[in-house]
Amino acid sequence: MEEITLRRHSHPGRKKGRGRAYAKGRQLDPAAVKEIAALLGDRPRRRDLLIEFLHLVQDKYNQISAAHLAALAEEMGIPMSEAFEVATFYAHFDVLKESDAPLPALTVRVCGSLTCEMMGADTLLSELSEFYGGKVRVIRAPCMGRCDVAPVAEVGHYHVTSATTEAIKAAANNGQVHPEIPKYTDYDAYRAKGGYALLESCLANERTPDELIEIMSGSGLRGLGGAGFPTGTKWNIVRGEAKPRLMAVNADEGEPGTFKDKLYLEGDPHRVLEGMLIAAWVVEAETVYIYLRDEYPGIRKMLLKEIAAVKAAGLDRKTKIELRRGAGAYICGEESAMIESIEGKRGLPRHRPPYVAQFGIFGRPTLVNNVETLFWVRDIVEKGADWFGGQGKGDSKGLRSYSVSGRVKEPGVKLVPAGVSVRELIEEYSGGMEIGHTFKGYLPGGASGGILPASMGDLPLDFGTLDEHGCFVGSHAVVILSDHDHMGSVASNLMRFFEDESCGQCTPCRVGTEKSVKLMEAEKWDEELLTELGTCMGDASICGLGQAAANPLFSVLKHFREDVT
Ligand SMILES: Cc1cc2nc3c(=O)[nH]c(=O)nc-3n(C[C@H](O)[C@H](O)[C@H](O)COP(=O)(O)O)c2cc1C
Ligand code: SF4
Ligand code: FES
Repeated sequence: MEEITLRRHSHPGRKKGRGRAYAKGRQLDPAAVKEIAALLGDRPRRRDLLIEFLHLVQDKYNQISAAHLAALAEEMGIPMSEAFEVATFYAHFDVLKESDAPLPALTVRVCGSLTCEMMGADTLLSELSEFYGGKVRVIRAPCMGRCDVAPVAEVGHYHVTSATTEAIKAAANNGQVHPEIPKYTDYDAYRAKGGYALLESCLANERTPDELIEIMSGSGLRGLGGAGFPTGTKWNIVRGEAKPRLMAVNADEGEPGTFKDKLYLEGDPHRVLEGMLIAAWVVEAETVYIYLRDEYPGIRKMLLKEIAAVKAAGLDRKTKIELRRGAGAYICGEESAMIESIEGKRGLPRHRPPYVAQFGIFGRPTLVNNVETLFWVRDIVEKGADWFGGQGKGDSKGLRSYSVSGRVKEPGVKLVPAGVSVRELIEEYSGGMEIGHTFKGYLPGGASGGILPASMGDLPLDFGTLDEHGCFVGSHAVVILSDHDHMGSVASNLMRFFEDESCGQCTPCRVGTEKSVKLMEAEKWDEELLTELGTCMGDASICGLGQAAANPLFSVLKHFREDVT
């Protein structure tokens, strides 16, 4: 029999003079402490700025080393575990262990979400990985909000659209790694055309909040982030809560297939900023936080400049403006997760009630509105509620921006009357189907909204019109599928997205998405098990991600059985 040697440990309380060989906890590296202090400069060491500071470290060092993370935690007076759990939650922070080798200087992210996958993302990924052999980091990433010019890759922070392997390599070779800022209407140009006159009239109390709320309600404007909550009603609810009140602009636009907010922010940012400041004036928000996804670095650069112009003109005299940078987490588009992220934490959705209108940022009543919702505010007030409300088709009210991508000749954002059908979107607004493709089905609302067959191509696309079919329009991201697309693969791509993006907080979503991905890899699906899993996710998940994750899977079982059984 093998001899076992027992090692005796002395009781820590016995004080026999055998002091600790090492100080307790992680040791601070003096050089790293100095570097972090210099990097943060005179910025206030506020806890809610943790994510902003992590970005500073990531940007400067291309990664976040264990020594820097420990130094940052020390500098901010928070436990290392807290800094670690926040940093590792977000995909855009590369947190390294002491033993890890440094990362390659350049990262290429290839979008692997649905439209890009349909347009050849897998080939790009495999060709680039083989070519670079680890010298450049090549990784698969979720939707980059450019699905109309798919496939897309990001070289450093430069986006290559309609990407080919050669074009990506050329950008990498030429050091083309910085974001591009397209032409846009800047502060002076916006003002020259009457911009900010409405806000000035509000700030001068020539209008009343009640009057504006009434106009919004009359116009039928509904939240265009996906939930469709009536905007006037939401403003009224928040205004009725106790002060101090706050506001957040949801510019996270992470739903695969959605790229409308980008279009508006990129082209006419002040129309969004004016709408935002008017809404903030209505609810008397002390501060408004703009939460912008990290996939839009050009917009961030431009917004920093344009917000400075707004501040220089004193237009922020009633409401302070803070621009916050997301870090690659889809779930932070969900409003309560976004609020956690604004507070510098992991983006874990909160249980409701209480709703964010009552208990939002730092526990204060908070108005959350989507970029496009705010984009329409100025026009609606200036042109009248009827101008907007009178434009829908059938029972639908207003204009809508449908992000159309996939198998059509002319993908893009289609600004058309609310309630159009997908057939109209394809034939009248998108140049028809791509040559050689026959219309087979469509996603009416991005990854979450389910999949419908071509035979249901005449349904009006609006909030509430697709519920009876287990689908919804959400952020109005319409992806057109053809006879070249296998519906099992489409649903698998979407489920993989949910698996990657689940925050992991609740078991049905965390485990359900993972198991579903595995089950959906089979040529013939285990219908019974998948149905059980999907039902459990829908019934028992905390937030919309888990609740909707099985929608595409159910749609395939209902409408495209021949592809998976
Ligand atoms: C999983 C999930 C992701 C979401 N992502 C976004 C987003 O990227 N942008 C957005 O504006 N709303 C998003 N929403 C909706 C927001 O929670 C919220 O309803 C919206 O920002 C409110 O603004 P609105 O009333 O102007 O639409 C998401 C919701 C869920 C459940
Ligand atoms: S449903 Fe998924 S994403 Fe939402 S809170 Fe639960 S685990 Fe997180
Ligand atoms: S940019 Fe690739 S799917 Fe949206």
